[in-house]
Amino acid sequence: MTAMIDSTGTVLPGHIAVVMDGNGRWANKRHLPRAAGHKAGVDATRRVVENCVKNNIEALTIFAFSSENWNRPVSEVSNLMSLFVSTIMAEVKKLNKKNVCVKFIGDRTRFSEKLQGKINEAEVLTEKNTGLHLNIAANYGGRWDIVNACRLITEEVINGDKKLTDIDEAMFDSFVSLSEMPAPDLFIRTGGEQRISNFLIWQLAYSELYFTDILWPDFSDEDFDAALNWYTGRQRRFGKTGTQLLDSEAVES
Ligand code: FPP
Repeated sequence: MTAMIDSTGTVLPGHIAVVMDGNGRWANKRHLPRAAGHKAGVDATRRVVENCVKNNIEALTIFAFSSENWNRPVSEVSNLMSLFVSTIMAEVKKLNKKNVCVKFIGDRTRFSEKLQGKINEAEVLTEKNTGLHLNIAANYGGRWDIVNACRLITEEVINGDKKLTDIDEAMFDSFVSLSEMPAPDLFIRTGGEQRISNFLIWQLAYSELYFTDILWPDFSDEDFDAALNWYTGRQRRFGKTGTQLLDSEAVES
C-alpha cells in the first residue's frame, strides 16, 4: 500500500480510521429514538465509503461497535445488532460490485450465529477484491487487540515456533489486527469528543488526529473533503525534525 496522490499531486491518506460518534445526539435533537440516529449513521457511513472509493483511498477502518458498547441498554444493543445484520445484507453485494474488500476486526465470537454467518459471508464474497479495504471494527477494543497479540505470541513461544528474543515491535505488529496493511495515516472522530476511546491504540501511534463537532449522521461529502484537506496540510515527522524532512525531500527530488 502506498500513499495516494490525487490529480493535483497532493498526497492523500492511504488509510483512514473513523470513530463515528454522535448518532444518539443527532436523534435526540430531532426528538427521535436513538435507533433513528444509528440508521442515519449508516447513510453517513455509505457516503464516506463512496468518497474513499472515489478518492482511491486504499483502506478505511470504522468503529461500528466497541467492546464497551455491550454496556448500553439491552434494547439499544439489540437494535444495533439487527441493524448490522440488515446493513450487511443490504450493502455487501453493492460493495462487492465496487471491488471493495470487507473485513471485520474484533472478537466476533460474542455475536449471534446469524450475525457471525453474515460477517463470514461478507468476507468470503469480497476477499479477492482489490479496491478499497473496508475494515469494520465490531466488538473491538484496542486493549483486547494488544492482549490477543500477547496470547498468540506466547503460544508460539511456548510451542517453540518463536524465541523470546524474536519479539520486537515489527514482530508484535504482525500479530495485531490489520497487520497486513500500513497503519492509519488519518484518524477522524466526529461528535465533538477528543479521545481515541480504545480504538486502534497500537496502530494509531503516528496517525494524524482530526476531531470535528459534526455529528456522524451529518458528516457530509464536504466534511470528508475538509478532513482530507486538513490532512494534506500536516507535516508528518515520525520523530524527525522539520529540517531533516526538508533535506530528505531535496535529496529525493
Ligand atoms: C456512536 O454514536 C455510534 C455507534 C456506537 C454505532 C455506530 C454504527 C453505525 C454508524 C452503523 C454502521 C453499520 C455498519 C454495519 C458498519 P453514539 O450512539 O455514541 O452517539 P452519542 O454519542 O450521540 O450518544
